[in-house]
Amino acid sequence: MPDDTAELEARLEEQDEFEPPEEFVSQANVSDASVYEEFEEEWPECWERAAELLDWDEEYDTVLDDSNPPFYEWFTGGKLNASANCLDRHLDDRGDEAAIEWVGEPSDEDDRTYTYEELHREVNEFAAALKEMGVGEDDVVTMYMPMIPELPIAMLACARIGAPHSVVFAGFSADALATRMESADSEYLVTANGYFRRGDALDHYEKTREGLGDVGHNVSDVVVVDRLGEHGHGHDLESNEHYYQDLVEEQEGAEVEPVSRDAEDMLFLMYTSGTTGQPKGVKHTTGGYLAWTAWTSQAVLDVKPEDTYFCSADIGWITGHSYIVYGPLALGTTTMMYEGTPDHPERDRLWEIIEEYGATQLYTAPTAIRAFMKWGEKHPDQHDLSSLRLLGTVGEPINPKAWKWYYKHVGGEDCPIVDTWWQTETGGMMVTTLPGVNTMKPGSAGPPLPGVDARVVDTNGEEVEAGRAGYLTVQKPWPGMLRTLYQNDERYVQEYWAEYSDTDSDDPDDWVYFPEDGAKIDEDGYITVLGRVDDVLNVSGHRLGTMEIESAIVGVEGVAEAAVVGGKHDVKGEAVYAYVITEDGYEEGDEMRDRIVEGVEDAIGPIARPEAVIFTPELPKTRSGKIMRRLLEDIANDEELGNTSTLRNPDVVEDIQRKVSGD
Ligand code: WTA
Repeated sequence: MPDDTAELEARLEEQDEFEPPEEFVSQANVSDASVYEEFEEEWPECWERAAELLDWDEEYDTVLDDSNPPFYEWFTGGKLNASANCLDRHLDDRGDEAAIEWVGEPSDEDDRTYTYEELHREVNEFAAALKEMGVGEDDVVTMYMPMIPELPIAMLACARIGAPHSVVFAGFSADALATRMESADSEYLVTANGYFRRGDALDHYEKTREGLGDVGHNVSDVVVVDRLGEHGHGHDLESNEHYYQDLVEEQEGAEVEPVSRDAEDMLFLMYTSGTTGQPKGVKHTTGGYLAWTAWTSQAVLDVKPEDTYFCSADIGWITGHSYIVYGPLALGTTTMMYEGTPDHPERDRLWEIIEEYGATQLYTAPTAIRAFMKWGEKHPDQHDLSSLRLLGTVGEPINPKAWKWYYKHVGGEDCPIVDTWWQTETGGMMVTTLPGVNTMKPGSAGPPLPGVDARVVDTNGEEVEAGRAGYLTVQKPWPGMLRTLYQNDERYVQEYWAEYSDTDSDDPDDWVYFPEDGAKIDEDGYITVLGRVDDVLNVSGHRLGTMEIESAIVGVEGVAEAAVVGGKHDVKGEAVYAYVITEDGYEEGDEMRDRIVEGVEDAIGPIARPEAVIFTPELPKTRSGKIMRRLLEDIANDEELGNTSTLRNPDVVEDIQRKVSGD
């Protein structure tokens, strides 16, 4: 009845605290609040509970070695293999159960199920192929692949032979691929000839070749997954390129003994954006990372082996690494992968998949939820989503309105929502409610996880009062943390620790991790993350450096100077605004704008495409010549401008403002 619905909406709108549903609590992996105290008392030994979720070839002798901060080591002396933990040990109990349910795009004919047995077999075969190619322990293998099962297979095959992987998001450009391969000295690449997007067979091979052409060192071998089959674009492979399918066929039935890796040996590298133009190669290790992702998957996502767990992220980002591949598979559950987009063939695609597979959890991003909201509740409402038990979000702050929409229309008001704050660098979740324990407050991620010492501080490092804005910090190390930036210890210290630490000290208490996020904390210790305080944008939950985009724009012929800021966007969260000064003799206009957009897509990828390009004769600068980004942000957001009196050129601001508002 319409009246009831209106009443319900009104009640939801006013409600700002939600208790975990009883039915959920009664079956939750973690439901006892004493876990917070226990972890505090037992720290750092509490992390043995995470390590216990894994099988070790050799037991570790030290939980935490903090003798040389911030170069912390976890579970030292221990040995294990990540692929054996994600596959072999599940064979006895779960061999015939699905490890991966893959939903391909074009039609249901393309869906594939890999049981643990089948996944184990193919990982072994591909591991054997990699070995035969000459890939040795510690050789970095780059992957540039869409959402196809061969991506996690290649990752696990690398893990099996002790070769770290470096996955480059398939939506990144050829240039981005080349930079990352060079930075990692990577001589091997696994890619695909294409993928399907909204019904079209898109080519990926040309872009790969273009990228390879720009790699300065010799690339010995390239493996190409033939995803497109008869829809392929008819390429002839080079002599050092091999079809994945041929390699695996040649190795049929091969078995490769998993290499026993030190807990601290590198499992993978993941490049992410920072303040400078150069992406950072975040290094994660085998023991700490795997323990962290397994533990958080269990405690926060409530993953159980019999679940069909669905995370809609792309494996090319950290969320997919930690919470499609490593965490869920370490726990022996069924993890889903979806190749396509949520609006193809219709805007109910995700709900259709959840209904068809009986998904038990959905982990997605606020930007997706805002799009779903826009498309309307009729889409989820027409599907039976009662298999869902828990919902999660990650990547950016979620506004209470989107939270409540998700809660009501997807969760049917009986699934807890976990709003999980973390980063590429943290390896896994850090701040979130425990779904079987804590009250939920829409818009606030929640308390730090047990054993995580996250605090909100002011510029002097003093904790702020409840309700005040400050900076998020993490004051104790944790097993899932990055260990360094690849071959750049100095930048590691500089980027993450220098701000709040006494960098001359070797006392771990003097070292504080700074994630570059602003935050608030309330009287219950709940943290609301406000967003980045450095020059990093968050576009649809994707991290992009303003410097990377600026240098792409300045590389376009006829551009003299550029400044990039984030403007608010109702679906993407933030959108790229580019303010550009042209060189004399070049005309501002559509042609120039198109070339700028193209330049950004070539250097980074379509995700970094500017929403607006604003030509201006000058940029607002301080007397010392620094660009006033705040002002440019205010203009993009159509907000009241801050103080302009310190500007060298205050008049320019009005000019720009007029242009943006279109007057
Ligand atoms: C932001 C993604 C608010 C934050 C896992 C962080 C969030 C950056 C949340 C890391 C959240 C992530 N609430 N903000 N729940 N989760 N962020 O490295 O600014 O791609 O620093 O890792 O995303 O992005 P990254």
